[in-house]
Amino acid sequence: MAEISDVMVPAEPVGRSAAQPQPTAPHLFAHPAEADFAGFLDFYHVPWRYEPTSFPIAWDGDRVSEMFTPDFYLPEQDLYVELTTMKQRLVTRKHRKLRRLRELYPLVNVRLLYQRDYYELLAKLGYGAVEITSLQPADIERILFSPAELQARVRELGDQISRDYAGRSLVLVGVLKGITFFMADLARAVTRPLAIDYLSVREYAGTDGVSVGIDRDLDLDICGQHVVLVEDIVNTGLTLDYVQRALLARGPASLRVCALFDKGERRLVPVSLDYVGFAIPNQFVVGYGLDYRELYRNLPFLCVLKPSIYRADDVTT
Ligand code: PRP
Repeated sequence: MAEISDVMVPAEPVGRSAAQPQPTAPHLFAHPAEADFAGFLDFYHVPWRYEPTSFPIAWDGDRVSEMFTPDFYLPEQDLYVELTTMKQRLVTRKHRKLRRLRELYPLVNVRLLYQRDYYELLAKLGYGAVEITSLQPADIERILFSPAELQARVRELGDQISRDYAGRSLVLVGVLKGITFFMADLARAVTRPLAIDYLSVREYAGTDGVSVGIDRDLDLDICGQHVVLVEDIVNTGLTLDYVQRALLARGPASLRVCALFDKGERRLVPVSLDYVGFAIPNQFVVGYGLDYRELYRNLPFLCVLKPSIYRADDVTT
């Protein structure tokens, strides 16, 4: 088996990080299909590197006589991807190179990808719940956080809460129903003994305007308990402010707030958040539990919906 240390590493463009979207530069790519694939990966927030590694696959004496440089490397999946077209002559040659690479470097994860395989790749990258029929779904303007980015941040929040509550048990209280997936993932990321409970709130129209009230109450008595109130998103802060007061009135030993998304620009009442997943822009977002007219909650990523989807209803962001 050949040594990985034989590998040569040329300079290469690198896929964007979630925080700083970078448009891809097509001129850096050897083939337009590669620029398309880079754009596709960027859209779905999948980090990539272009041709980062050349693997020697044939030698003439001591001299390397043939190298194979897969088009992309996806570090989160530890996967090399070689793109291919339908041209049979090229496919046969690529298959031969790939076979040789797998023989020489059995630990290297590499696959040949046709454009029609993009969807299958997406499913493997955590987008499996989505029916994606074009490379960029028609309703979605942009993806803010991929499934991998969400999961990584939720794990960090879980670690932080586990550290802060060392030696204690706690109650996680979720506000239905946008909380569904965040609660399920967060609870499993916390390594302290915990109970889970839910409440829901509703707006009531009264003589002096709209007020918020509890629609479905907790099952548990939280008096004397350490409570973490879990919210998917905080916009105006009105819901959180109301729920926080209602819970404090029940005499918990402590009450902290964990919100996955903080849309600070929309704040109307000051609220203090102890754990925040992501600060997000003032745009209409759906996915990972958040809805538009009850739809899109099951998208495994958080995305900005195209205004054309909700503009007709004059929905505030
Ligand atoms: C969302 C979210 C919060 C609230 C935040 O709930 O779950 O509870 O809005 O907004 P605010 O800070 O402006 O009060 P929503 O009313 O959309 O119900 P849902 O969770 O059932 O989708």
